[in-house]
Amino acid sequence: MIAKFSADFPWRSLLPGVVALAVSAVVLGHAQAGGRHYFPPVDDPLVVEECGSCHLAFAPSMLPAASWARMMADLKNHFGDDASLDPAVAAKIAAYLTDRAGDRGGQRHGEKLLRGVATAAPDGGAPLRITELPRWVREHRKVPDWEWRHRDVRTRANCTACHVDAAKGYYDD
Ligand code: HEC
Ligand code: HEC
Repeated sequence: MIAKFSADFPWRSLLPGVVALAVSAVVLGHAQAGGRHYFPPVDDPLVVEECGSCHLAFAPSMLPAASWARMMADLKNHFGDDASLDPAVAAKIAAYLTDRAGDRGGQRHGEKLLRGVATAAPDGGAPLRITELPRWVREHRKVPDWEWRHRDVRTRANCTACHVDAAKGYYDD
């Protein structure tokens, strides 16, 4: 995927022309207009390994603690996939994510992203998708349909297709 490419290869210094041709660069053009949005990335190798193999290991501050608890309680039915883990491992990861959740204080951008989101009991309908949070939807309103469908993007959950530094916690480019 694009993120892997950019991580392994100094695209920016060597091939600015080629990058400019990539569709993701069209999107980057918009994304660079914003300020510095920092969501501390996952820094625990266990969580990166278990939650970063199918998609980016999403930043814990992007969901409330109740959402992580709800998600971790049913990994067998994880968005159509079976992401089950050994219960002890799942408990460790759940603790990591909930401790750093967006509603646990000190997460400036996380708190903003979660504004207006109900953060009730784990089984009380806490949101499971970052991409369905009202503020996320609003921030991405201007992204046209063809960009979502592009073969390098495919799904809204593929943050790194457009935010090349997402794994480092930055979402403004
Ligand atoms: C076996 C593959 C797999 C593993 C492992 C996995 N996931 Fe997922 N995850 C998915 C799929 C598939 C989706 C849905 C993606 C989409 O909508 O395109 C998803 C979606 C998500 C979303 C919602 C993204 C959105 O749309 O906002 C979150 C949050 C999430 N996963 C967290 C986790 C966490 C936490 C772990 C580790 C405990 C994990 N995932 C492990 C496959 C996986
Ligand atoms: C198809 C490309 C695309 C995908 C995929 C995508 N984004 Fe974005 N994102 C954008 C664009 C474009 C903006 C608008 C930036 C702006 O207006 O400055 C944006 C804005 C944001 C912002 C606000 C930053 C700012 O500077 O305003 C955040 C946070 C964000 N995205 C997070 C995510 C997350 C998390 C994911 C994956 C779950 C994701 N995005 C997936 C294109 C994308």
